[in-house]
Amino acid sequence: MSDVQTLVKGLVKSYGRQETSLMPILQGVIKVERSISESAMIEIARELEISTAKVFGMASFYSFLDTKPRGKYVIRICKTITCAMKGKNQILLALEDSLKIKVGETTHDKHFTLLETNCLGWCHKAPAMLINEEVYTELTPEKVRQIIEEYKKNEVVD
Ligand code: FES
Repeated sequence: MSDVQTLVKGLVKSYGRQETSLMPILQGVIKVERSISESAMIEIARELEISTAKVFGMASFYSFLDTKPRGKYVIRICKTITCAMKGKNQILLALEDSLKIKVGETTHDKHFTLLETNCLGWCHKAPAMLINEEVYTELTPEKVRQIIEEYKKNEVVD
């Protein structure tokens, strides 16, 4: 059995075979592999008995289909309407400034990748972002600067 098969089987065991497990399983794969490969998608589809297209759809909707190598921390800022109306652009500028990269880029030290994504389901606490599988809500430019500083500090300690 390949590593990815073992990983998916382990996640299915934890989250169950129902379709609602798709999201946590995808996130679990990203946590370990930092991206979702084609073989991972096929394995998830087989385990949950759903079509690969469905897995692909969900993964691409959340921009989880990272084919490029990504940083250790992948930041996904929600670009959908509620977050957009609640100041997502200011958040993005603060992130770009703190990290010295633009959307779609990875820092030179490979610690951070900055991406946009669709609605994360936290509209009531917009604007929202994910850092790996961790959700951060009600963001302000000051708050995101602090969050990034914390990650940078921990990275030095690690
Ligand atoms: Fe951003 Fe829903 S619109 S979390």
